[in-house]
Amino acid sequence: MRLLVTGGAGFIGTNFVRYMLRKYSDYEVVNFDKLTYAGNLENLKDLEGNPRHRFVRGDICDAAVVARLVGEGIDAIVNFAAETHVDRSIEDPIAFVITNVLGTQTLLAAAQKNKIKRYVQVSTDEVYGSLGELDFFRESTPLAPSSPYSASKAAADLLVQAHYFTYKLPVITTRCSNNYGPFQFPEKLLPLLISNAMNNLPLPIYGDGHYIRDWIYVEDHCRAIDLVLHQGKPGQTYNIGGCNERQNLEVARLVLTILHKPESLITFVKDRPGHDRRYAIDASKIQKELGWHPMTSFEEGLQKTIAWYQDNKKWVADIQQGEYRNYYQRMYTHRDETLLKHL
Ligand code: NAD
Ligand code: DAU
Repeated sequence: MRLLVTGGAGFIGTNFVRYMLRKYSDYEVVNFDKLTYAGNLENLKDLEGNPRHRFVRGDICDAAVVARLVGEGIDAIVNFAAETHVDRSIEDPIAFVITNVLGTQTLLAAAQKNKIKRYVQVSTDEVYGSLGELDFFRESTPLAPSSPYSASKAAADLLVQAHYFTYKLPVITTRCSNNYGPFQFPEKLLPLLISNAMNNLPLPIYGDGHYIRDWIYVEDHCRAIDLVLHQGKPGQTYNIGGCNERQNLEVARLVLTILHKPESLITFVKDRPGHDRRYAIDASKIQKELGWHPMTSFEEGLQKTIAWYQDNKKWVADIQQGEYRNYYQRMYTHRDETLLKHL
């Protein structure tokens, strides 16, 4: 199988590319990534020289390049490429609309023209919006995105569905909850908490910290995408979740406990506008139909993730020297200026 993986130099894409090359000794992966601030060739260093992995730098909105690549005997596409950070989407939504909507349409058009056997759209539970205390996101839950990020992902999901109904393109959509694990960019909650705690810096918690996310170890997500790619039904959507709801404050306390750091590092800062209160996934469809279930407990996954960040301090430090400094400065100028002194 020749797979086109887009966004394969980002967090989940990097983990997925490695997972697939490890699992299938006869698969080839074309890894297509624009290398935005979130893409990092360092993630792929140990794949250099692997004849089954080819990295191509480029933009999924570039129709000519996408058409050429897909035309080179690609069997299936897994689309991870996206602008992914909610706070950045609140600051400036345009790049989210361009990459997440136009980019997806560009890939779908090339897939259609080349009669691709499978197109997997890696989407998110955020398209469903926010939950009250008792409910769960099901595949039938109406889309109600709150942020520019989730609105752009929801728009992409609808385009994907339209290509199934209109052109019979064999598409499948996955909607996963919050991932954590190696190679996650330190703007997202867990790697930010880990790297700040490691350096005795404040752990910024938005609002009251009682917001709930359902955390899943990234390798469990990769396994689910692999199953969906090979055994999922065209036209279907599959929710993927860790069955692991935690309040943000609880997550911060767990990180501090594992690292033997004081709770006084927890710092409440101004809330995210339009902050979704709770996400929780009903993953019974993928469990029943494809036999998937998460295999890594939160405690085990967190230990592994913290160990990875301890072993890869330079990876984080290099990121923090770049564009990240400007981002952090912008974020905390309006959230909590006292955090700026840690730049
Ligand atoms: P990430 O931000 O770490 O990586 C995104 C990658 O896409 C980067 O390598 C970036 O360079 C690349 N990219 C961005 N714009 C591009 C473009 N125009 N053309 C080509 N490449 C481009 O993101 P992630 O956390 O790994 O998320 C991957 C996918 O999974 C996204 O589609 C996201 O919506 C989805 N998702 C993420 C989570 C999560 O918790 N991280 C959960 C559910 C779904
Ligand atoms: O649910 C899946 C989604 O999870 C993905 O689609 C997104 O790409 C991914 O970024 C993630 O979105 P969230 O907004 O849930 O993740 P984030 O890590 O930004 O925030 C997680 C929670 O922690 C959220 O309630 C906001 C809060 N938070 C976040 C940051 C960065 C803080 O309290 N402090 C912080 O500094």
